[in-house]
Amino acid sequence: MLLIVALIFLPGGAVPFLGTVLRRLTRRSAPTTVAHHVGDEPHAVEAPARRTVPDGPVVLRLDGVTVRFGGLKALEQASLTVRQGEVVAIIGPNGAGKTTLLNVLSGLIGGGRVDGEVDYGGKALLGARATTRRRYGIGRTFQHAEAFPELTVAENVLCTNRRITAEHRRRAAELITGMGLGDVADRRPTELPFGLQKRLDLARAVAERPALLLLDEPFGGLDAGERRLAANQIRKLRDEGSAVVIIDHVLDDLFAVADRVVAFDFGVRSRKASPTRSCWTPASAPPTSAPRAPAPSCPNRATGRRSG
Ligand SMILES: Nc1ncnc2c1ncn2[C@@H]1O[C@H](COP(=O)(O)OP(=O)(O)O)[C@@H](O)[C@H]1O
Ligand SMILES: [Mg+2]
Repeated sequence: MLLIVALIFLPGGAVPFLGTVLRRLTRRSAPTTVAHHVGDEPHAVEAPARRTVPDGPVVLRLDGVTVRFGGLKALEQASLTVRQGEVVAIIGPNGAGKTTLLNVLSGLIGGGRVDGEVDYGGKALLGARATTRRRYGIGRTFQHAEAFPELTVAENVLCTNRRITAEHRRRAAELITGMGLGDVADRRPTELPFGLQKRLDLARAVAERPALLLLDEPFGGLDAGERRLAANQIRKLRDEGSAVVIIDHVLDDLFAVADRVVAFDFGVRSRKASPTRSCWTPASAPPTSAPRAPAPSCPNRATGRRSG
């Protein structure tokens, strides 16, 4: 699965060859800043909380998107609008179709049948291949963290560039440091615990400076310090103008980075959570340790109907 995803979603696909080239390149100009920050543990300075409502141009518009796996509707008539410089959080119980939504957007839907329309900056997205979408500036992370097992951590962060420049190396080193991966920059992802693999997945995705970043449970499996690092990177990317769609069950962290929250319930977007009127407005209320009670306009979420 990893190999398939890597082959179609990351450029080139010739991983071993790429690994050799990257290794040579990274050795030639060793990312010393990375090495010096060995052992970085969560040290991040919190980015300031956003005070204004994002009002940038719409970058993504889903209209009536339905996804069927045989007789199962994983998404039903889903509609959503995302603006530049906005973090939109998607919540919902297991099996609600959240990952399916990200798969629709990144072109990795597998055997599902997709109907409806997805407009991405004037381009009809549904007909485009996953690699084309990546060229359009759509990046993503994966619920279970994906990386090239043949490459080191540093190479994984660099390898998404066709031609590696000094600026790429500088940014990769900054991200590796910022995500507390300096200590393991020369290790292979398979040698690392899950939390570090998740941090790497995020660093790799952010390194591409995506115009639209899709994050599938980036906080899952991370400790509090790691979640702070991840949140900081997400805010930084947003502040650089990227749009972010994020799914997670860790609601405190989710609400801390989200500008808007949209609820999905077993394929159907919750009735009154429109793009302009969300169920929750995290910026307007402090996060709580328990899932926040929905605002009166939100229908109750069903629970336990499926696992996923
Ligand atoms: N490739 C697939 N083939 C068949 N069913 C799938 C596939 N992907 C997802 N589903 C089903 O679609 C529903 C939504 O799944 P998913 O989007 O992963 O939910 P969530 O991420 O909200 O937990 C689930 O019932 C799941 O079993
Ligand atoms: Mg999921």
